Amino acid sequence: LTIVGWAAVLLGIAYAVEHAFDLQLWQALLLYLLPYAVAGYDVVLEAWESITEGECFNEDLLMTIATVGALLIGFVPNGSPMFDEAVFVMLFFQVGEVFEHLASDNSKKSIAKLMDIRPDSATVERDGQLLTISPEEIKLGEIIVVKVELLKELDNGIRFYSLENESLKLVVVNMGCRIMEILAPDASGKRSDVILGLKNIEDYANDPAYFGAIIGRVANRIGDARFSLNGKTYELYANNGKNHLHGGKEGFDKKIFDVTPLENGLRFHYLSKDGEEGYPGNLNLYVTYTLDDNTFSIHYEADTDADTVVNFTNHLYFNLSNTLEKVTEHSLQINADYIGCVDDTCLATGELLPVKDTPFDFNEMKKIGQDIEADHIQLKNAFGYDHSFVLKGEERQLTLEEPVSGRRLVISTTAPVVQVYTGNFLKDGCIGKAGRVYENREGVALETQLMPNAIHTEENPSVILRKGEKFESTTNYIFETI
Ligand code: BGC
Repeated sequence: LTIVGWAAVLLGIAYAVEHAFDLQLWQALLLYLLPYAVAGYDVVLEAWESITEGECFNEDLLMTIATVGALLIGFVPNGSPMFDEAVFVMLFFQVGEVFEHLASDNSKKSIAKLMDIRPDSATVERDGQLLTISPEEIKLGEIIVVKVELLKELDNGIRFYSLENESLKLVVVNMGCRIMEILAPDASGKRSDVILGLKNIEDYANDPAYFGAIIGRVANRIGDARFSLNGKTYELYANNGKNHLHGGKEGFDKKIFDVTPLENGLRFHYLSKDGEEGYPGNLNLYVTYTLDDNTFSIHYEADTDADTVVNFTNHLYFNLSNTLEKVTEHSLQINADYIGCVDDTCLATGELLPVKDTPFDFNEMKKIGQDIEADHIQLKNAFGYDHSFVLKGEERQLTLEEPVSGRRLVISTTAPVVQVYTGNFLKDGCIGKAGRVYENREGVALETQLMPNAIHTEENPSVILRKGEKFESTTNYIFETI
């Protein structure tokens, strides 16, 4: 139905109801105001928001126009024959609005709205079953379980999206597949942002900390910024002393990815051309972000047309507290018996250190800060934790907890190691979301990946991707409460 159609139907009903019940003006008005009293002012505020954001012809805007119009008519001296009808039109809109408002408030799920602009993609609940369908198939009033929405698009191809379901909400941008916000519930159900990041998208162009970004072609350091493969030496850019770090001068964190909305997430693609940053082979990287209940998943897929090296990760810094308490107050548990050692340039040496009886033993849950200042050469080399933990087991290999908010993050991954970096150099960063430069150790990066510098240290380097082979890896971030 068009707007005119809806208006005609509602006017008809209103007219019939008015005559059937022989209502007075004040009774009709009371009926009209009642839903407002139940719903509170949120409905009105939302209406104004939708006007200021320039959305048109959604029901909120229509409601506002109807309300203002009816009030004007109503206050015209001597009344107007249209007043009662207008009141009933408003009443019907309002009742629908209230039901919708209460339902969405109670369940935090989004409901496809009358006249609303639909999400770009969605998973819906039909007859108790979850169905992934195209946006055109969403029915009015249907519960949307995962909502994927394009928030903003800039002229240079940068696109911002939100991914939202009942428990989590993410704001994501296709520059480096950056995750700018993750809203996750605390023990009382209050959602707030649990990752560090920068204020403005422009700031990410000079981001020294790789906040929330996909890292590639090779995460972490490659010693002496060069490597040999199939008898040929490849020279890379040395952007970290004499070493190459996180993909070089302009790594994947700064590249604009193509993006396709999925029913429950987003799929990104980037073609890294042969010779980019000195690496051989045309490399296709596909990164898929999906939401399922309390789990956010990252899936990496890559192929190449010539033998090359790859090591992808995501550089999310977590802080699960509501007040940006230092992460040294968070508790951490990792299923790992060994870490990879680093030299005093933080370069992985290939030597494995058994964690038993060292500050690196996180097999039992302990505070990150408990041993971080201990007198251990590995902690001195990296100014804290900045090491690869060799993971044991198939799932739930890592758990991070913050006792005050009651948030818990569990990581399940197919990757062999997790680089735990306690933000030891964060202080050199730019202005963060908190409105100031972050302090050291205000966030912990938990980077699931292959062993850093493997091309120099492993006999059969896990980081080599051969022509015709497919690289795949998945990491699940599960948000729970203690
Ligand atoms: C590395 C750190 C590095 C940081 C840069 C981390 O992944 O492990 O050594 O300083 O990234 O943000």
